[in-house]
Order: sequence, then C-alpha cells, then structure tokens
Amino acid sequence: MQEIIITGASRGFGRHVAIQLAGPGRHLHLINRSKPDATASEIRDRGGDVSTWSIDLTLTERLEDSFLPVLDSVKSRNPEAIGLINNAGTIEPVGPLGKYETSGYRKHLELNYVAPALLTHLFVKHFQQLPITKRILFVGSGASRRPIHGWSHYCSSKAAIDMLAKTVALEQDAQEYPFETAVFNPGRIETDMQEALRDKSKEDFPLVDDFVASATDGRNLPPEQVAEKMVRIFLSDTFPHGEIVGR
Ligand SMILES: NC(=O)c1ccc[n+]([C@@H]2O[C@H](COP(=O)([O-])OP(=O)(O)OC[C@H]3O[C@@H](n4cnc5c(N)ncnc54)[C@H](OP(=O)(O)O)[C@@H]3O)[C@@H](O)[C@H]2O)c1
Repeated sequence: MQEIIITGASRGFGRHVAIQLAGPGRHLHLINRSKPDATASEIRDRGGDVSTWSIDLTLTERLEDSFLPVLDSVKSRNPEAIGLINNAGTIEPVGPLGKYETSGYRKHLELNYVAPALLTHLFVKHFQQLPITKRILFVGSGASRRPIHGWSHYCSSKAAIDMLAKTVALEQDAQEYPFETAVFNPGRIETDMQEALRDKSKEDFPLVDDFVASATDGRNLPPEQVAEKMVRIFLSDTFPHGEIVGR
C-alpha cells in the first residue's frame, strides 16, 4: 500500500490533488479543519482508501500530539511507499504590514510555514530508516521570488518554504535511505483564494485589477488541470528532488 498524507484537501487545489491521486493500492490521509466528506467519497468511488483527520494546522504548539496518530496509522499498514504533500495555505491578511491584527499575521505564519516545517520534521524523524520510496512535496508560489505589495507574509513564508525544501534535500543526500523533496509552484488557480483576492481594495492590494482580469483572460487555470500536472510529477520515476518546479 502507498500511504500519502495531504494537507488542505477539503477544497481548492488540494481537493483535486487528492482525488487524482486516488486509486487501488493507495491510502490517502486528508488533514483539514473541516471534515472533507465530499473529497473522501470521491476517493472511495475511485477505489482508493481514505482517512480524514481534523487538525487546525495553526495550532502548532499541539501539532506533534495531533500528527502522531496520523504517522502511527501510516506505519501500521507496512507501507511500500510514503508521501507528504504540504498544500494547506492562506493569503490572509492581505494589506501592508503594520495594518492588521497581529493574530492574523501569526496564524498566517503558523499555517504557511511553521506547520509544514514541523510536519516535515516529524515525518522525516518517524520514517528516516524505512528503506522505501519516501517523498515530500511542498506547494509553493511564484510570490516566493518577487515582492508583492500587501503580501509581505505570503511572499516571505513561501520563500521560506523554498529554502526549507532545498535544505532538507541537501541533508537527505547524506542519508542511507533518503527522502526526496521538491516544491511545486502551481501558478494562478481558480480557487477560493483567488476569489478573495479579487475582493481586496487597491489600497491593500494595488495589483487587484490584474487579478480580476486573470480570472477571465485564461491566466487562472482550473484546479483539476494543475492538479493533474502536480500528481504526474509526484508519482513520476524522475521526481525533481531538490528542485522548484512550475506548472
Ligand atoms: N490559488 C492560487 O492561485 C494559488 C497560487 C499559488 C499557490 N497557491 C497555493 O496552493 C495551496 C492551496 O491553495 P488553494 O488556493 O487551494 O487554497 P484554498 O482554496 O483557500 O484551500 C485551502 C485549504 O487549506 C485548508 N486549511 C486552511 N486553513 C487550515 C488550517 N488552519 N488547518 C488545516 N487546514 C487548513 C482548507 O481546509 P479547511 O478550511 O477545511 O481547514 C482548504 O482545504 C496553498 O499553499 C496556496 O498558497 C495557490
């Protein structure tokens, strides 16, 4: 059995990634705050196995306790391959640093950086000695490479993800049974996140008109189309270890 953990699979991009990964011989572990019943039933319809875990990934002080049962569940099936897809993320709060509540920025950093960093740490710690295929894929963003007005925490947390993935890749090269790690940058995908961006004021987000335009001029791709590409990369014999790849 292949055991794959994916965060943020209740809706948006992660939901389509989970559905397209589903199939016989594959057990998916979905981590979200809500119960992703619709995603889970589509996975079963495709002949896959699924477990759902209600975890608020912003509560990182408790993350080790809440993630251990997921790791134990993966281990209990004697997997022939394992994977972790760090997908859950947020763009909020959008607006210049200094403007909104501290708690909003803190939650942003917990979800976009602290949680994936700790989940990755625990996954590696638990399974380093398993002599099987082991992959970790982070969902990144082109925003990691250029500053965007109103996105201070998003650009910087995604830049941190790029560097985390590259550093872990370097460390894993020295291991007897290494994990492979990479970042996938999906580009603009038509999800709730894009919808929220279109509602922002120009003061908070001067690029808002461009994001309104990209909803209809073909630049925002449907999540299922981009998910297909990412799933192909995730399952490929030539996983892009240590790389940041785009759609
Ligand atoms: N949309 C784009 O154009 C775009 C572009 C580049 C990169 N990305 C990246 O792609 C990834 C997915 O984005 P998306 O557009 O699909 O976002 P989305 O539609 O807002 O979906 C976010 C997912 O994350 C989960 N989530 C949110 N807060 C959570 C929390 N505190 N704990 C656990 N799960 C949580 C949500 O489930 P619950 O609400 O049930 O918890 C949901 O399944 C993100 O990393 C994003 O940065 C998106």
